[in-house]
Amino acid sequence: MQTLRDLPALRAAVDALKSDGKPLTLVPTMGALHDGHMALVEEARRRGRHVVVSIFVNPRQFGPNEDLDAYPRREAKDAQMLAAAGVDILWIPPVNVMYPAGYATNISVSGISDGLDGAARPGHFDGVSTVVTKLFNQVRPDVAIFGEKDYQQLAVIRRFVADLDLSVEIIGMPTQRAEDGLALSSRNAYLSEEERKAALALPRALGEAKRQIEKGEPVEGALAKAIATLAAHGFDPVDYVSLCDAATLAPMTVLDRPARLLGAARLGKTRLIDNIAVDPA
Ligand code: PAJ
Repeated sequence: MQTLRDLPALRAAVDALKSDGKPLTLVPTMGALHDGHMALVEEARRRGRHVVVSIFVNPRQFGPNEDLDAYPRREAKDAQMLAAAGVDILWIPPVNVMYPAGYATNISVSGISDGLDGAARPGHFDGVSTVVTKLFNQVRPDVAIFGEKDYQQLAVIRRFVADLDLSVEIIGMPTQRAEDGLALSSRNAYLSEEERKAALALPRALGEAKRQIEKGEPVEGALAKAIATLAAHGFDPVDYVSLCDAATLAPMTVLDRPARLLGAARLGKTRLIDNIAVDPA
């Protein structure tokens, strides 16, 4: 595996890889890799393609009061895991390579970026859209793989790829969970032992609301119950528990088409998100 930190070296290495005509897959990450990330890497390898993984803790997608400085950084261990998984290139640009002095351009996707995490984290999806567009232009992948763990992020990326006519195929991978059901996340490292136990209330409350809604119970009541359950387990604030159209993320009050149930809430200093499919009978 080549570990590269400047653009000319990346461009040359990508050109060399691509010269055999095999497609190239990119897996963008912010590092502190866990089995959720590695499932995306394994899917890329399974497809028999060249694999580039990027690690970049993107300042533009963190709000002023968020955890940019505290975000876990484990470059040596990440590199070991990626090399062992058969990754061809680790692209790990410094901030001044991604955003050199004078940098002034923003990619902003309206509508689908506005609700849910977009409302709770103003500017977050502009930061994601901007950096992912740049990563696509830097690495020029044929395919890029993202996790459904960040469901709204995946939907926003699909939107700008279509809108900007980018020629990259976007693949979404199911959320990888710990044995007890908690979605794997780099931010789980922030949880105390007690918080780790309480965190389970998030997937459980979403699962319970899904069952109720699929049984035909009123959506509003099921969402209110999930929010109350999270509050009772110490989540504060609960940013949202919402039922949304699975493709557009428009809010839904009646289950009349494929939907996604999404939740986000803070436990101590850790903000957790999760989501599951909800399907009409
Ligand atoms: P990060 O949180 O590091 O996640 C990188 C990729 O791994 C994302 O596509 C995310 O959805 C996926 N992922 C994380 N946890 C997962 C899990 N438990 N199961 C399956 N996939 C999981 O998301 C980002 O970084 C950034 O916003 C990024 C896209 C890299 C742009 O900066």
